[in-house]
Amino acid sequence: MSSPVAVRGFGSDEAALPHPVRNDTPKFDRLARVYRWMEWFSFGPYLSRCRRAFLPQLHEARRALVLGDGDGRFTAALLRQNTQVRIDAVDASAAMLDGLRRRAAGDVSRLRTEVQDLREWRPKPAACYDLIVTHFFLDCLTTEEVSALAARVAVATAGDAHWVVSEFAIPDDAFGRWLARPVVTMLYRAFGVLTGLRVRRLPDYSKALRSAGFSLQKDRKWLLGLLVAQVWRRKGRQTTGSAKDHPG
Ligand SMILES: C[S@@+](CC[C@H](N)C(=O)[O-])C[C@H]1O[C@@H](n2cnc3c(N)ncnc32)[C@H](O)[C@@H]1O
Repeated sequence: MSSPVAVRGFGSDEAALPHPVRNDTPKFDRLARVYRWMEWFSFGPYLSRCRRAFLPQLHEARRALVLGDGDGRFTAALLRQNTQVRIDAVDASAAMLDGLRRRAAGDVSRLRTEVQDLREWRPKPAACYDLIVTHFFLDCLTTEEVSALAARVAVATAGDAHWVVSEFAIPDDAFGRWLARPVVTMLYRAFGVLTGLRVRRLPDYSKALRSAGFSLQKDRKWLLGLLVAQVWRRKGRQTTGSAKDHPG
Protein backbone atom coordinates (compact mmCIF):
# COMPACT_ATOMS: atom_id res chain seq x y z
CA MET A 1 0.00 0.00 0.00
CA SER A 2 1.17 3.50 -0.78
CA SER A 3 1.61 5.91 2.06
CA PRO A 4 -0.45 9.11 2.19
CA VAL A 5 2.48 10.95 3.77
CA ALA A 6 4.37 12.93 1.13
CA VAL A 7 7.51 13.73 3.13
CA ARG A 8 8.97 11.11 5.49
CA GLY A 9 12.21 10.83 7.33
CA PHE A 10 14.97 12.37 9.46
CA GLY A 11 12.50 12.16 12.34
CA SER A 12 11.10 15.64 12.61
CA ASP A 13 9.62 16.83 9.37
CA GLU A 14 7.03 14.34 8.16
CA ALA A 15 4.23 16.14 6.36
CA ALA A 16 1.08 15.26 4.50
CA LEU A 17 0.95 17.38 1.36
CA PRO A 18 -2.38 17.57 -0.47
CA HIS A 19 -1.40 17.46 -4.18
CA PRO A 20 2.24 16.42 -4.56
CA VAL A 21 1.79 15.25 -8.17
CA ARG A 22 0.16 16.69 -11.30
CA ASN A 23 -2.51 15.38 -13.66
CA ASP A 24 0.13 14.52 -16.24
CA THR A 25 2.58 12.89 -13.80
CA PRO A 26 3.43 9.38 -15.06
CA LYS A 27 1.97 6.69 -12.80
CA PHE A 28 4.64 4.21 -11.82
CA ASP A 29 2.81 2.96 -8.70
CA ARG A 30 1.38 -0.08 -10.46
CA LEU A 31 4.86 -1.12 -11.63
CA ALA A 32 6.53 -0.81 -8.24
CA ARG A 33 6.45 -4.51 -7.35
CA VAL A 34 7.26 -5.89 -10.78
CA TYR A 35 9.71 -3.23 -11.97
CA ARG A 36 12.88 -5.14 -11.11
CA TRP A 37 11.59 -8.25 -12.90
CA MET A 38 10.62 -6.24 -15.99
CA GLU A 39 14.13 -4.87 -15.97
CA TRP A 40 15.69 -8.30 -15.60
CA PHE A 41 13.67 -9.86 -18.42
CA SER A 42 14.43 -6.97 -20.80
CA PHE A 43 18.08 -6.11 -20.11
CA GLY A 44 19.36 -8.85 -17.80
CA PRO A 45 22.03 -7.50 -15.43
CA TYR A 46 23.01 -4.49 -17.56
CA LEU A 47 20.86 -1.74 -16.03
CA SER A 48 22.06 -2.79 -12.60
CA ARG A 49 25.71 -2.75 -13.75
CA CYS A 50 25.18 0.69 -15.17
CA ARG A 51 23.62 2.03 -11.94
CA ARG A 52 26.33 0.55 -9.77
CA ALA A 53 29.28 1.50 -12.01
CA PHE A 54 30.49 4.33 -9.76
CA LEU A 55 28.98 3.18 -6.47
CA PRO A 56 32.33 2.12 -4.93
CA GLN A 57 33.65 5.65 -5.49
CA LEU A 58 30.88 7.46 -3.63
CA HIS A 59 32.23 6.89 -0.12
CA GLU A 60 32.97 10.58 0.54
CA ALA A 61 29.45 11.84 -0.16
CA ARG A 62 27.71 13.27 2.91
CA ARG A 63 24.47 14.83 1.55
CA ALA A 64 22.97 13.13 -1.44
CA LEU A 65 19.90 13.85 -3.52
CA VAL A 66 18.51 10.90 -5.46
CA LEU A 67 15.91 11.83 -8.06
CA GLY A 68 13.47 9.28 -9.53
CA ASP A 69 15.18 6.28 -7.93
CA GLY A 70 12.05 4.20 -8.13
CA ASP A 71 12.15 1.12 -5.89
CA GLY A 72 15.41 2.31 -4.41
CA ARG A 73 17.85 -0.50 -5.09
CA PHE A 74 20.63 2.01 -5.72
CA THR A 75 19.78 4.23 -2.74
CA ALA A 76 19.63 1.27 -0.35
CA ALA A 77 23.01 0.07 -1.63
CA LEU A 78 24.54 3.55 -1.23
CA LEU A 79 23.24 3.80 2.36
CA ARG A 80 24.71 0.37 3.16
CA GLN A 81 28.07 1.16 1.63
CA ASN A 82 28.48 4.74 2.88
CA THR A 83 27.49 4.88 6.54
CA GLN A 84 27.92 8.67 6.78
CA VAL A 85 25.72 9.78 3.93
CA ARG A 86 22.22 11.24 4.44
CA ILE A 87 19.94 10.98 1.47
CA ASP A 88 16.91 12.89 0.20
CA ALA A 89 15.06 10.72 -2.32
CA VAL A 90 12.32 12.33 -4.42
CA ASP A 91 9.97 10.42 -6.71
CA ALA A 92 6.41 10.90 -7.93
CA SER A 93 5.51 7.32 -7.02
CA ALA A 94 4.57 6.69 -3.37
CA ALA A 95 4.63 2.92 -3.98
CA MET A 96 8.19 3.07 -5.35
CA LEU A 97 9.31 5.11 -2.33
CA ASP A 98 7.62 2.61 0.00
CA GLY A 99 9.76 -0.05 -1.69
CA LEU A 100 12.84 2.05 -1.09
CA ARG A 101 12.02 2.48 2.61
CA ARG A 102 11.58 -1.29 2.99
CA ARG A 103 14.89 -1.96 1.23
CA ALA A 104 16.73 0.64 3.30
CA ALA A 105 15.19 -0.66 6.54
CA GLY A 106 18.36 -0.70 8.67
CA ASP A 107 19.49 2.74 7.42
CA VAL A 108 16.16 4.52 7.26
CA SER A 109 17.24 7.09 9.87
CA ARG A 110 19.54 8.58 7.21
CA LEU A 111 16.85 8.69 4.55
CA ARG A 112 14.18 11.28 3.79
CA THR A 113 11.67 10.48 1.06
CA GLU A 114 9.39 12.92 -0.71
CA VAL A 115 6.53 12.17 -3.10
CA GLN A 116 6.65 14.97 -5.63
CA ASP A 117 6.63 15.63 -9.35
CA LEU A 118 10.20 16.75 -9.97
CA ARG A 119 9.02 19.30 -12.50
CA GLU A 120 7.45 21.13 -9.54
CA TRP A 121 9.94 20.22 -6.83
CA ARG A 122 12.15 22.89 -5.27
CA PRO A 123 15.11 22.15 -2.97
CA LYS A 124 14.84 23.39 0.58
CA PRO A 125 16.60 26.76 1.08
CA ALA A 126 19.27 25.26 3.36
CA ALA A 127 19.96 22.28 1.08
CA CYS A 128 23.63 21.71 0.37
CA TYR A 129 24.14 18.54 -1.66
CA ASP A 130 27.51 17.11 -2.63
CA LEU A 131 26.04 14.23 -4.66
CA ILE A 132 23.12 14.10 -7.09
CA VAL A 133 21.99 10.80 -8.61
CA THR A 134 19.62 10.14 -11.51
CA HIS A 135 19.38 6.60 -12.88
CA PHE A 136 17.08 6.15 -15.89
CA PHE A 137 14.99 9.10 -14.74
CA LEU A 138 16.06 12.04 -16.92
CA ASP A 139 14.58 10.18 -19.89
CA CYS A 140 11.14 10.81 -18.32
CA LEU A 141 11.64 14.56 -18.92
CA THR A 142 12.07 16.84 -21.93
CA THR A 143 15.33 18.73 -22.48
CA GLU A 144 13.66 21.92 -21.20
CA GLU A 145 12.45 20.14 -18.06
CA VAL A 146 15.91 18.68 -17.39
CA SER A 147 17.43 22.16 -17.84
CA ALA A 148 15.02 23.72 -15.37
CA LEU A 149 15.58 20.91 -12.86
CA ALA A 150 19.39 21.05 -13.22
CA ALA A 151 19.36 24.81 -12.63
CA ARG A 152 17.32 24.35 -9.42
CA VAL A 153 19.58 21.54 -8.24
CA ALA A 154 22.75 23.52 -9.00
CA VAL A 155 21.89 26.25 -6.50
CA ALA A 156 21.45 23.58 -3.84
CA THR A 157 25.01 22.27 -4.15
CA ALA A 158 28.07 23.38 -2.25
CA GLY A 159 31.79 23.03 -2.82
CA ASP A 160 32.43 20.27 -5.30
CA ALA A 161 29.31 18.37 -6.24
CA HIS A 162 29.04 15.29 -8.42
CA TRP A 163 26.07 14.17 -10.48
CA VAL A 164 25.93 10.47 -11.32
CA VAL A 165 23.79 9.69 -14.34
CA SER A 166 22.68 6.40 -15.93
CA GLU A 167 20.80 6.67 -19.18
CA PHE A 168 19.88 5.15 -22.48
CA ALA A 169 21.68 6.61 -25.50
CA ILE A 170 21.44 6.33 -29.26
CA PRO A 171 24.97 6.10 -30.65
CA ASP A 172 25.65 8.03 -33.82
CA ASP A 173 26.44 4.94 -35.94
CA ALA A 174 24.73 2.05 -37.72
CA PHE A 175 24.02 0.25 -34.42
CA GLY A 176 22.38 3.43 -33.15
CA ARG A 177 20.25 3.89 -36.26
CA TRP A 178 19.17 0.28 -36.75
CA LEU A 179 18.96 -1.11 -33.23
CA ALA A 180 19.30 1.43 -30.42
CA ARG A 181 16.76 3.89 -31.85
CA PRO A 182 14.00 1.27 -32.35
CA VAL A 183 14.67 -0.15 -28.86
CA VAL A 184 14.34 3.30 -27.29
CA THR A 185 11.20 4.05 -29.33
CA MET A 186 9.68 0.75 -28.20
CA LEU A 187 10.50 1.48 -24.54
CA TYR A 188 8.84 4.89 -24.76
CA ARG A 189 5.72 3.33 -26.30
CA ALA A 190 5.59 0.67 -23.58
CA PHE A 191 6.00 3.16 -20.73
CA GLY A 192 3.51 5.48 -22.43
CA VAL A 193 0.91 2.70 -22.26
CA LEU A 194 1.85 1.44 -18.79
CA THR A 195 2.33 4.75 -16.98
CA GLY A 196 0.94 7.52 -19.18
CA LEU A 197 4.43 8.96 -19.75
CA ARG A 198 4.13 11.55 -22.52
CA VAL A 199 7.80 12.07 -23.37
CA ARG A 200 8.79 10.27 -26.59
CA ARG A 201 12.45 11.09 -27.14
CA LEU A 202 15.63 11.17 -25.07
CA PRO A 203 16.40 14.62 -23.71
CA ASP A 204 19.71 16.33 -24.41
CA TYR A 205 20.62 16.12 -20.74
CA SER A 206 24.32 16.79 -21.44
CA LYS A 207 23.45 20.25 -22.71
CA ALA A 208 21.22 20.82 -19.68
CA LEU A 209 23.90 19.73 -17.18
CA ARG A 210 26.56 21.85 -18.90
CA SER A 211 24.29 24.91 -18.75
CA ALA A 212 23.92 24.32 -15.01
CA GLY A 213 27.70 24.40 -14.57
CA PHE A 214 28.49 20.66 -14.57
CA SER A 215 31.24 19.15 -16.71
CA LEU A 216 31.65 15.52 -17.69
CA GLN A 217 34.29 13.70 -15.67
CA LYS A 218 33.78 9.98 -16.33
CA ASP A 219 31.91 7.99 -18.91
CA ARG A 220 31.26 4.25 -19.30
CA LYS A 221 29.18 2.39 -21.85
CA TRP A 222 27.45 -0.99 -22.14
CA LEU A 223 25.64 -2.82 -24.96
CA LEU A 224 27.57 -0.95 -27.69
CA GLY A 225 26.63 2.41 -26.24
CA LEU A 226 22.90 1.81 -25.66
CA LEU A 227 23.54 2.31 -21.92
CA VAL A 228 25.81 4.96 -20.42
CA ALA A 229 26.90 5.76 -16.88
CA GLN A 230 28.55 9.10 -16.24
CA VAL A 231 29.92 11.29 -13.49
CA TRP A 232 29.52 15.04 -13.88
CA ARG A 233 31.15 17.54 -11.60
CA ARG A 234 30.33 21.10 -10.58
CA LYS A 235 32.80 23.30 -8.80
CA GLY A 236 30.65 25.53 -6.63
CA ARG A 237 31.16 28.17 -4.01
CA GLN A 238 33.74 27.18 -1.41
CA THR A 239 32.51 26.06 1.98
CA THR A 240 34.48 26.65 5.18
CA GLY A 241 35.42 22.96 5.32
CA SER A 242 37.65 21.38 2.71
CA ALA A 243 35.91 20.47 -0.51
CA LYS A 244 37.15 16.98 -1.16
CA ASP A 245 37.18 15.26 -4.47
CA HIS A 246 34.89 12.29 -4.75
CA PRO A 247 34.67 10.11 -6.60
CA GLY A 248 37.96 8.91 -8.05
C1 LIG B 1 12.05 4.39 -15.39
S1 LIG B 1 11.89 4.55 -13.66
C2 LIG B 1 13.58 4.49 -13.15
C3 LIG B 1 13.69 4.02 -11.73
C4 LIG B 1 15.12 3.82 -11.22
N1 LIG B 1 15.83 5.07 -11.08
C5 LIG B 1 15.94 2.89 -12.04
O1 LIG B 1 17.14 3.10 -12.15
O2 LIG B 1 15.42 1.93 -12.56
C6 LIG B 1 11.54 6.25 -13.51
C7 LIG B 1 11.23 6.71 -12.09
O3 LIG B 1 11.10 8.11 -12.12
C8 LIG B 1 9.87 8.50 -11.52
N2 LIG B 1 9.37 9.64 -12.27
C9 LIG B 1 9.05 9.72 -13.58
N3 LIG B 1 8.65 10.95 -13.91
C10 LIG B 1 8.70 11.69 -12.76
C11 LIG B 1 8.42 13.03 -12.44
N4 LIG B 1 7.98 13.90 -13.35
N5 LIG B 1 8.61 13.44 -11.16
C12 LIG B 1 9.06 12.57 -10.21
N6 LIG B 1 9.35 11.29 -10.47
C13 LIG B 1 9.16 10.85 -11.72
C14 LIG B 1 8.95 7.30 -11.62
O4 LIG B 1 7.98 7.30 -10.59
C15 LIG B 1 9.95 6.15 -11.51
O5 LIG B 1 10.13 5.74 -10.18
